Parts: sequence; structure tokens; C-alpha cells
Amino acid sequence: MKKIAVINGPNMNMLGTREPDKYGTLSLAELTAVIAKKAAELGARCEFFADNSEGALVSAIQNASDSDGVILNAAAYTHYSLAIRDAIAAIDAPVVEVHMSNVAAREAFRRESVIAPVCMGSIAGFGIQSYILALYALLEM
Ligand code: DQA
Repeated sequence: MKKIAVINGPNMNMLGTREPDKYGTLSLAELTAVIAKKAAELGARCEFFADNSEGALVSAIQNASDSDGVILNAAAYTHYSLAIRDAIAAIDAPVVEVHMSNVAAREAFRRESVIAPVCMGSIAGFGIQSYILALYALLEM
């Protein structure tokens, strides 16, 4: 059975109440349950991790090196964390960058992703479906 790590960065623990116009009304626990259910349907298993701090995310990415793929919403760190970029580059597992909102259609600073060049690909703008699309992509590769 393929093992996929799902890693969420800062403020994603506020999903449900955080800017619902941009991120919807599902909590992180509910989002996790939807992804886990879809993974089970597809014959895969997800391991979930979420943290607000950069170092914890770096460690989670390193720890996911033995997985078959990583779905990563690095949230605001996407736009400036070279430590997270280096962690992605350091592991063999393919990493898909995801965002719930369409970052290309928001503030200028969100248009830059320092992690995109070391990810397998990026999916943004589909809410929770961004994660599901990433799951399909990783399981099909
Ligand atoms: C986000 C987009 C980021 O720019 C933002 O900082 C987030 C969430 C998204 O899922 O749309 O926290 O990654």
C-alpha cells in the first residue's frame, strides 16, 4: 500500500474559521478526514502532520523521505522559506505543492513560490480538491 505524507503549514490549523471566503468552512480535522477517506478508496494510506513552525515542517519533510509522496501546503512559508525548499530538495520522495486558494490571483507576494522549483508540480485554487488532485497525481506517477 502506498504511503503519502500530507503536511500543512502555519495557520492551516485555523481552517474553518480563518478567512472562510478564501479557505472554506471545513476545519483541518474535517479536511484530513476527507483526504483519508479518498486515500482509502484509492488503496493508499495518508500520514498527516501540521505545525505552525518552520523547523517542525523541515523535520516532517525529512521524516517523509521514506514515503511514496508528499502533499505539502507550506502556507505562507511557500513564499520565502529556503529551509523548507532545501528540505524538499534533500529527500527522494516526490513533493506536490498545494494551495487551497488561487495564489496567482491574490497579492503579488503570493505569486512567488521558492519551493515550486524543487517540487514535482503545483496545484492551487481548488480548495480541498487541491489535495485530492495532488493525491491522484502522486498515486498515478
Ligand atoms: C495558502 C496560500 C498562502 O499564500 C497562505 O499564506 C496560506 C494558505 C493556500 O492554501 O491557499 O496560508 O497556502
